[in-house]
Amino acid sequence: RPAWPGIIQAYADRISLPDGARVVTLQEGGTPLLEAPHLAELTGCRVYLKIEGANPTGSFKDRGMTVAMTHALATGATGVICASTGNTSASAAAYAARAGLTCAVLVPRGKIALGKLAQAVAYGARILQIDGNFDDCLELARKTAAEYPIELVNSVNPIRLVGQQTAAWEICDALGRAPDVHLLPVGNAGNITAYWKGYTVYAADGVVDATPRLFGFQAEGAAPLVHGEPVRDPDTIATAIRVGNPASWAGAIAARDASNGLIDMLPDERILDAYHLLASREGVFVEPASATSVAGLLLTASDGRLPAGSTVVCTVTGHGLKDPDTALATMAPVEPVPVEPGAVASALELV
Ligand code: F0G
Repeated sequence: RPAWPGIIQAYADRISLPDGARVVTLQEGGTPLLEAPHLAELTGCRVYLKIEGANPTGSFKDRGMTVAMTHALATGATGVICASTGNTSASAAAYAARAGLTCAVLVPRGKIALGKLAQAVAYGARILQIDGNFDDCLELARKTAAEYPIELVNSVNPIRLVGQQTAAWEICDALGRAPDVHLLPVGNAGNITAYWKGYTVYAADGVVDATPRLFGFQAEGAAPLVHGEPVRDPDTIATAIRVGNPASWAGAIAARDASNGLIDMLPDERILDAYHLLASREGVFVEPASATSVAGLLLTASDGRLPAGSTVVCTVTGHGLKDPDTALATMAPVEPVPVEPGAVASALELV
């Protein structure tokens, strides 16, 4: 079988780009849709995980970035800029390196997970630490891109969301139908907007005969869409979705309402419980924000909002290695043992 070519080639008939554009790809997409038997047992549903941490930079952002960077290069950009809670910056830095473009990333000081920062450093981006939150970073990036010849590659650039629709298409292609319910974490709300667009496009073209209900989940300390107003000082251990004023607000609300879905919130403890459960029971190590979809699955299954027997997909958006600090701070500690065979056996309670 030929290797997976990346989303632009895999869905060439559905993604339009300037003629003759050089495709900037790291062969993103084609990620696993993995059944989750333990979650199925807990919820009475058929549960699949869309493992977006398997993308080249470890998050779903690569799907949008291949399209955004291909477009930027084809239209003569020499540099790109983005604001980020970490994953967008890691992805932009990688694809800019591949394209030969300069890349500047604006990140909130002290609130970006270690692995993501290491990625932006390694890929050679200019990293500007802003003494504010993500929303401040995005405003600065937008203003800079409006005034200077540098391309904004945040999801407010609509070309990004074209690429992110491919996750919905892959799920339908793999299942031979759309799921009944699709659950995902929501931060800046680009992804839920893109999934809904992707599902509706497939339904309109008759590839699938129904669209799923979309269930979006925010962290309790960063839940503007649940409260119906921006949150000035968003806070959560799930730093990826620490967003107080989502750029794609209207898209998220439209996805919720048109799909007969919901947007709810979860306390950090529930998110961390799901984070530990995914790793220890399903063998899937994700970053905390990604576990929000699974925390939402458990919540809505237990309160009856998720009908038993449904076929559901949870997107897990980013790899666990992105945020090693949270893993080490919240999971069982390392046990020091002296260099003695007997000590190993007794630590393992074999004797
Ligand atoms: N999960 C992860 C791991 C993310 O990095 C993000 C967003 C989301 C979920 C939420 O997706 O913003 O489309 O609603 N991260 C952005 C970033 C904000 O800068 O990397 P969304």
